[in-house]
Amino acid sequence: MLLVLAATTCGLFFSFGTSAPIEPLGPGGTPFLLDKSQYFSHSFLETEIPYIDIPDQLIKDVYYYRWTSLERNLRYTTQGTGYMTTEFVQPVWYAQAFGTINAAAGHHLDEAKWLRSPKYTDDYFQLYARGPANSTQYTEWILHAAERKALVSGDKAFLAAHLDDLQRAVHEWDKVLDKDVGLYYYQPVWDAQELSLPGFVADPNNMDWDLRKDGPDTYRPSHNAYMVANCRAVARAAEFAGNAQVQAEYTKMADDIEAAMFKHMWDPKKQFFMDIIRPNNPNLTRLDGREQVGVFPFRFGIGLNETYAQPAVDALFDTQGFLTPYGPPTLEVRDPWYMAEKPDSYCCYWNGQSWPYSTSHTLKSLAAIYRSGTTNLTSDQYYLYLKTYAQTQQKDGHPYVAESHYPHKAMWSADGFNHSEHYAHSTNNDDVISGLLGIVPQADDTLVISPIVPSDWKWFGIQDLNYHGHRVTVLYDADGTRYGKGIGLTVFIDNEQIYQGPDMKATVKMPPPRIPDKDVPVNIAANPDGVGRWPRADATYTFQADWSYKAIDGVVYYDSEPDNRWTNYQSPNQNDTLTVTFPRFRNISSVTLAAFSDVDRNGQIDLPWKVEVWGSTGLLATVSDSDLVANDRNTISFNETETSFVALNLYNQPGRFVGLCEVEVWVPPAGSVYHAADALLKGETVDVLLEGNVNGVKPKSVVGAMAADSIVSFSGVLGPAAAGSSTVTIVYANAGESTLNLALEVNQVPQAVGVALKPTEDGAYASVDVPVKLASGKNFVTLKGGSPWIKLDTLTVS
Ligand SMILES: *[C@@H]1O[C@H](CO)[C@@H](O)[C@H](O)[C@H]1NC(C)=O
Ligand SMILES: *[C@@H]1O[C@H](CO)[C@@H](O)[C@H](O)[C@H]1NC(C)=O
Ligand SMILES: *[C@@H]1O[C@H](CO)[C@@H](O)[C@H](O)[C@H]1NC(C)=O
Ligand SMILES: *[C@@H]1O[C@H](CO)[C@@H](O)[C@H](O)[C@H]1NC(C)=O
Ligand SMILES: *[C@@H]1O[C@H](CO)[C@@H](O)[C@H](O)[C@H]1NC(C)=O
Ligand SMILES: *[C@@H]1O[C@H](CO)[C@@H](O)[C@H](O)[C@H]1NC(C)=O
Ligand SMILES: *[C@@H]1O[C@H](CO)[C@@H](O)[C@H](O)[C@H]1NC(C)=O
Ligand SMILES: *[C@@H]1O[C@H](CO)[C@@H](O)[C@H](O)[C@H]1NC(C)=O
Repeated sequence: MLLVLAATTCGLFFSFGTSAPIEPLGPGGTPFLLDKSQYFSHSFLETEIPYIDIPDQLIKDVYYYRWTSLERNLRYTTQGTGYMTTEFVQPVWYAQAFGTINAAAGHHLDEAKWLRSPKYTDDYFQLYARGPANSTQYTEWILHAAERKALVSGDKAFLAAHLDDLQRAVHEWDKVLDKDVGLYYYQPVWDAQELSLPGFVADPNNMDWDLRKDGPDTYRPSHNAYMVANCRAVARAAEFAGNAQVQAEYTKMADDIEAAMFKHMWDPKKQFFMDIIRPNNPNLTRLDGREQVGVFPFRFGIGLNETYAQPAVDALFDTQGFLTPYGPPTLEVRDPWYMAEKPDSYCCYWNGQSWPYSTSHTLKSLAAIYRSGTTNLTSDQYYLYLKTYAQTQQKDGHPYVAESHYPHKAMWSADGFNHSEHYAHSTNNDDVISGLLGIVPQADDTLVISPIVPSDWKWFGIQDLNYHGHRVTVLYDADGTRYGKGIGLTVFIDNEQIYQGPDMKATVKMPPPRIPDKDVPVNIAANPDGVGRWPRADATYTFQADWSYKAIDGVVYYDSEPDNRWTNYQSPNQNDTLTVTFPRFRNISSVTLAAFSDVDRNGQIDLPWKVEVWGSTGLLATVSDSDLVANDRNTISFNETETSFVALNLYNQPGRFVGLCEVEVWVPPAGSVYHAADALLKGETVDVLLEGNVNGVKPKSVVGAMAADSIVSFSGVLGPAAAGSSTVTIVYANAGESTLNLALEVNQVPQAVGVALKPTEDGAYASVDVPVKLASGKNFVTLKGGSPWIKLDTLTVS
């Protein structure tokens, strides 16, 4: 069913630069829209995603669901750092900075690059490239994903600006590069795959759980293919930067790793890329079993010739290999260690369970093999795999994704309550867009359309796809009856029909990329570090199972469970106030409320009948429920005001209560002055201090209570247009008797010279200039150390 809604007034497609009206393209001359009744957060979907029209309802439903599952995992961190993507909707203990886990960061970028706002992927990539996220906790293809993203956005300058960072990221892996063999090794658990074949082979009698689970150091086709792809991404960035020397260097590195993969990992008898356990294996004897990781290299362009690719295809369509009803499984069915059932409740058995993470790689490998034309793989076979994936991503008759799925029955095998829901560890929509529907991103000004649809499809379309910053719509209509735009393929760019041809494939000339302004508003209400850090959220009443902090944790979703909200459920008050306090005074002109309502789910939380917004200067705005949309963002605007807090006085409807999933306050980004009070603070005692907090005088917020373990991280610090020397001026006070040196890191790289803070007269504020090399774009500048005598005010770039 194609549910068609009249264009509403809620700002459809307003994020595009063009204000041209929407061309009516769908059946009956209407745009394709999704059935809104199924999903919360319509404003996000309406502004961010491309719409599709395909004859397969199941794949279509999963496609829309997957945008909502991705949205649940987009987390706002801090005003300088912006967005990241979580793996689990609830925090897990082993996550690193801001809750990042790099295992699926490549998948996150691969998927989210199709959202219209580049901030979701720009910010997240920078968090790894320059920020504190750890890119070597797990193996990764983040650089490759950043390259693919550049081909979608057309923003080559952004990738090129990170050339130094990309090179550093590759070399962080040197610690596990075996130079004699020419391959990288890691324990399978850190290749995101515990309990996989190497662990079982190393510990066949189950004598050592850690060895069995984590696996021995292993040269793996997955990890090494990622590194080939990462090196090629550096070469591409160097090409975009016009640096032929670095381009050649990293091309050779990629070629060398690839050659070592063919030499050592390709098994001519098994006709597959195989794992090689490292310890006590000087002859580099390969394992016997085919694992799904052996098909990953193809998606990165490795082995795309008949000799290598045909056997992979044959294995994927062999019921004793990887063809199962809800697969593919992570290990071939015929292997003695294959486990269709998990032996216990441990989440992650990668010796047989079907895993969206691996399915995503496999779908991309199949697409690459199909397009290489070197095998007999058909589009119907590709579709079978995509359809199987859609059939796997179901629960209780609805689209759903959790951690792992039984390969042979319709049930998730790892699906923990309040943990695995909407698990963000894979792609799906990237495979629909760039696989099935055939949008193959290009570095030059072309749009290549090369669909892999079933032979009997007579029509399909994708509307308002963001490609090179333009709005692209592609329609295929075999007999011209569905869209009435002619027979075959029709392409619109920015609402203008620019191509019509009888074939399903085409290469269409694009206008030059349009790169959106990077100076987008920042949210000053988010607190990624929890209670005890800034900003703060307090409420006059909070239901025991909810939490005021959830209203500023940067996460926005409206599900009943998992819980992500503050509510006043069971409050004795007719109205309650949620107050968000900033670490310093700010000028603000709006507040955005992600309002929770579960009255349509038999709950008692509903929109407030009235909201008053208060600030330091008094009442800022009053709105009523008719101005608000439930389970979506609502922006309440008012005249700019200087305030240190926003207090939301929310009035219950009779017999009902109120709830907020998030409070956001979006303001223009900092110019060239960065306040220490806005920086991310780490350490036992370091905190924001309010100075001069007496009647009638506006207090000044500085960072103090410092100690040797203090870390003050400024982010979003804009460097010069071309990387080069800058001066950062730090305004500080040192009431001690001696100079204190703070260690300085720029983009995680320790600087030879730190920041010397000389004693200041009477402990008054003074400034010190520090020459630093900043990259172009946003930088992370970190100061480490301190003493109780030190106070930090601002950092200014000149
Ligand atoms: C990243 O993770 C690896 C593996 O857990 C660890 O050895 C390394 O110290 C971490 N790096 C940072 C910067 O946290
Ligand atoms: C490695 O290969 C050599 C030569 O074939 C053989 O003599 C040796 O036993 C092998 N070593 C191991 C550990 O298998
Ligand atoms: C595939 O590559 C291998 C090794 O590079 C080569 O020997 C073989 O001839 C190639 N096969 C085809 C069909 O191109
Ligand atoms: C493709 O070729 C393989 C042999 O490599 C064969 O087993 C298979 O049946 C063929 N598939 C199709 C769809 O023709
Ligand atoms: C869900 O997990 C969060 C984070 O671990 C926890 O605070 C909350 O209590 C859990 N909710 C339920 C219903 O178990
Ligand atoms: C309820 O609203 C009144 C103003 O109408 C306000 O004075 C009072 O503080 C509010 N109560 C709470 C608990 O927020
Ligand atoms: C708010 O804006 C006014 C007027 O531009 C300015 O004087 C003031 O310093 C600003 N306050 C803050 C906290 O930025
Ligand atoms: C907002 O500012 C304008 C212009 O100064 C003024 O006319 C208007 O009354 C103000 N609105 C409110 C709600 O204070």
